[in-house]
Amino acid sequence: MASIDYSQRIPNNVDLSSNRRLQRALEKWQPRFLDWWQEMGPEGFQAKDVYLRTAINTDKGGWAHFDYVRMPDYRWGIFLNDREQDRTVGFGDHAGEPVWQEVPGEYRNMLRRVIVTQADTEPASVEQQRYLGATAPSLYDLRNLFQVNVEEGRHLWAMVYLLHGYFGRDGRNEADELLDRRAGNEDKPRILDAFNQRCPDWLTFFCFTTFTDRDGKYQLGALAESGFDPLARTCRFMLTEEAHHLFVGETGIGRIIQRSCDLYKEDPNGDVRAQGGIDMATIQRFVNYWYSYSLDLFGSEVSSNAADFFASGLKGRWKEESYDDHSALNQVHRLAVMREGRLVDEEVPLRNAMNELLRGEYRKDCEKVVSRWNRVIRKAGLADTFEIKLPSTRFHRRQGVYADAHFDLDGNPISEAEWNEQAPGWLPSEADRDYVASLMSPVYEPGKMANWIAAPRRGINGMPSDYVYVRTH
Ligand SMILES: [Fe+2]
Ligand SMILES: [Fe+2]
Repeated sequence: MASIDYSQRIPNNVDLSSNRRLQRALEKWQPRFLDWWQEMGPEGFQAKDVYLRTAINTDKGGWAHFDYVRMPDYRWGIFLNDREQDRTVGFGDHAGEPVWQEVPGEYRNMLRRVIVTQADTEPASVEQQRYLGATAPSLYDLRNLFQVNVEEGRHLWAMVYLLHGYFGRDGRNEADELLDRRAGNEDKPRILDAFNQRCPDWLTFFCFTTFTDRDGKYQLGALAESGFDPLARTCRFMLTEEAHHLFVGETGIGRIIQRSCDLYKEDPNGDVRAQGGIDMATIQRFVNYWYSYSLDLFGSEVSSNAADFFASGLKGRWKEESYDDHSALNQVHRLAVMREGRLVDEEVPLRNAMNELLRGEYRKDCEKVVSRWNRVIRKAGLADTFEIKLPSTRFHRRQGVYADAHFDLDGNPISEAEWNEQAPGWLPSEADRDYVASLMSPVYEPGKMANWIAAPRRGINGMPSDYVYVRTH
């Protein structure tokens, strides 16, 4: 079951050819997807050979195959992890009951909303990253961008399979609408705010893949626990692909930091911008911006929807099996909230704090990433000069219980006047964005890097770093 049938028009490991109605419906959606890809996918390079990985089976080891592919010929398909024998719902009110192979009627709308919200992020990020190929700092990075893009397209397929396969006409309509919305479009925007932001430069791209794709990791992790088994199996395989996107982001920023340290030491005044690099203060402001935007994606700290998702067995906690009690009843979560201008601790029923729990896991993961970035600084001998820090989870929030107040980087409440005075030092200014944009010119010579970023430590799939990852000629 694990190996993927590539003889079909739509590669899959779900025995699609035995369900003719579903197969036909998806084959009707396929040309619409390809039209969308041409219209909104990577600008340029569609006729070029790109050294891409493609899933060939869903086993843990050796699941991917690498070769030159033209992006429109990429074999987007439907790949689910294998079914687990006798799997039961792992949490909530149905804990211990057999998992569902069909959508439970009472949860149909809720489940559809969960799937559509996740699905919408996949094409959105492709749209946001559409123009980045024109300014890639190297062929290695250009290839990584396209790898992320085709796999986000694959993730859209994963979700559309669930919509078509389990939600009838409603699901087919939702699948069509996924191709109609556009990132940043005023009339038909993408559902979540971070996916309507602009991604005009590579510092933004690497922040996005570090922080926003990492939100995806945690959402998929929670859905991989789902009692709706097809969703759980779908998300488990998506997580395998997602790891590379996070790698691209983390190592991208790490290489910018590395280069920034080198240029700092080269300049007599330590002026990184004078050397054409990206200074650490600018990197920090971009980190503050994208980290805080990504925190919003988890939803409100106190949420009855989140409680319902958990109770119904649709969306679990990160690594649910690591908890002793899977009901999350008669327990509380302590949370600092604003009362009359002051922060006070309050107790929230645990089920209502599920978003906050997931955000907490995410924050811990982000802290590990930041400590690896700081290791780059330390190795450069500049630990006394620079340190990258994550702001408080209350900083610069537009969703949830902190959205109506202002907080400094450490999460202390401040007045609106203080915020207006300080914020330009904390978040990227127009001048920062203009400066970063001014550095963005393409480098398409094998092995060469733009001046503002260090070379990667190794290439992709054991290839040398000067490999021709994209045949641009
Ligand atoms: Fe994705
Ligand atoms: Fe991703």
